[in-house]
Amino acid sequence: MIIAIDGPAGSGKSTVARLIASRLNFKYIETGSMYRAVAWKAQQEKIHPDDAEGIAEVARNISLEFQPGPERQKVFVDGEELTPILKTETIGQLAAVVAANRAVREIMVAQQQNMGRNGNVVMDGRDIGTVVFPDADKKFFLIADQKERAQRRHEEMKVKHPEITFEEIYEQLKQRDYEDENREVSPLVPAKDSIRLDTTHMNIDDVVAYMIETIGPVHSQ
Ligand code: C5P
Repeated sequence: MIIAIDGPAGSGKSTVARLIASRLNFKYIETGSMYRAVAWKAQQEKIHPDDAEGIAEVARNISLEFQPGPERQKVFVDGEELTPILKTETIGQLAAVVAANRAVREIMVAQQQNMGRNGNVVMDGRDIGTVVFPDADKKFFLIADQKERAQRRHEEMKVKHPEITFEEIYEQLKQRDYEDENREVSPLVPAKDSIRLDTTHMNIDDVVAYMIETIGPVHSQ
């Protein structure tokens, strides 16, 4: 069984995806961290985000590994754990730029399909139900009001980064939504057969409960 969860930044998808995977005893793959890792490595190597071939080369050579963590998935890039660094909004913004690169997408999508080939996986991202696994057993598309999403992100970040304001986060999310929805390759759109869920006024437990019920009985392979 493959469960695809797509949606914009801050819609709650990674939190619910992780919880659902743990409830069903499935593997969880957060594909956003793959684009984030490419962005981080390109930055380290001083490759300009507009250098399409340079960025593609980074994607070809990067080695990514995921491990389950207590709060979120741990991401290792070329053997080094970079989970907190990858989560920053600066890297999120850069990730949206490298994610518009066709070659990068081809490389990442192939890896994602490979990681999900044995099934019993929950994968979240922007194009899982449309491109990576168009035949996924269940597809969800999570949305939430832009202000609410920025509020959630702000809550998450203010402990470690009290200097970042709500307004900054709101503007950054707006920009990232725009880029993700309007890029030429694999733009963020709901798959036609996805279940759309507006989480603006829902708490995480209700979202998870609804999704688990919608998924129905699961048979372990
Ligand atoms: O989900 P997350 O915020 O970590 O994703 C970072 C960026 O990576 C997104 O804004 C998007 O541009 C890109 N992305 C993508 N396709 C995916 C996952 C993420 O284009 N499947």
